Amino acid sequence: MSTQTGANMPTHVSVIMDGNGRWAKERGKERVYGHAEGVESVRACVEAAVETGVKYLSLYAFSEENWNRPEEEVKALMELMVKAMAAEMDELDRNGVRFVVLGNRERLGDELNRIIDSCMERTSRNSTLTLVIFLSYSGKWDILQAARKLALQLWDDPDGKEKLMNMKAEDFDGFLATAGIPDPDLIIRTSGEIRLSNYLLWQGAYSEFLFTDTLWPDFRKDDFRAALESYAKRDRRYGKVK
Ligand code: FPP
Repeated sequence: MSTQTGANMPTHVSVIMDGNGRWAKERGKERVYGHAEGVESVRACVEAAVETGVKYLSLYAFSEENWNRPEEEVKALMELMVKAMAAEMDELDRNGVRFVVLGNRERLGDELNRIIDSCMERTSRNSTLTLVIFLSYSGKWDILQAARKLALQLWDDPDGKEKLMNMKAEDFDGFLATAGIPDPDLIIRTSGEIRLSNYLLWQGAYSEFLFTDTLWPDFRKDDFRAALESYAKRDRRYGKVK
């Protein structure tokens, strides 16, 4: 779904949280220590989003490619997610946050899937902020699963070919994991890396980007607010002439 919210305030801010491992290494600690501190930055950014009136905050927490990390790091990260969800859910709910997890859920364990379902159900009627956690997600996975869904829907339809030929990009939005969520106005990536890493490939077509050297565990409220200020100065033209 596309939104053209004007220059001032982003509806949807998305973050590629990067640099946890380096942050820990700088302190002579294990990588997982950086991930745990990263959860504090998640909390700070959620608070900042609520305070500033951002309606959607999404976070790239674990990519499909991240499954290739050492087994013990993957296990520690999954445990951290379970722990963080259990610890934060009361407060998120109290603050009117709708909690949504998107990605290839089949790859997540039963324990994590159970807590995700319970958090999503519990907060489903909240509307102050939608917090989207992309877990076991990748942009190519999303486009492929959308194409599969579409193909299966049209498979036995005698008008399938005509429907396919008349299809518009906006119609395809509805098949993506992100159906119903506005495209990100601003995508922030921390830690000095300047790439998209298979994130919101379709949905980020007209996003503004902000790359910062700050490592994710150091990215807190002031940084979030500074990112909004930077966004407010952007001139979005969506390929048109103004
Ligand atoms: C990237 O840093 C960070 C991750 C792959 C994990 C981020 C996850 C969290 C902060 C936990 C979030 C929890 C919830 C409930 C949303 P990196 O490991 O790639 O760092 P590096 O580039 O320095 O190695």
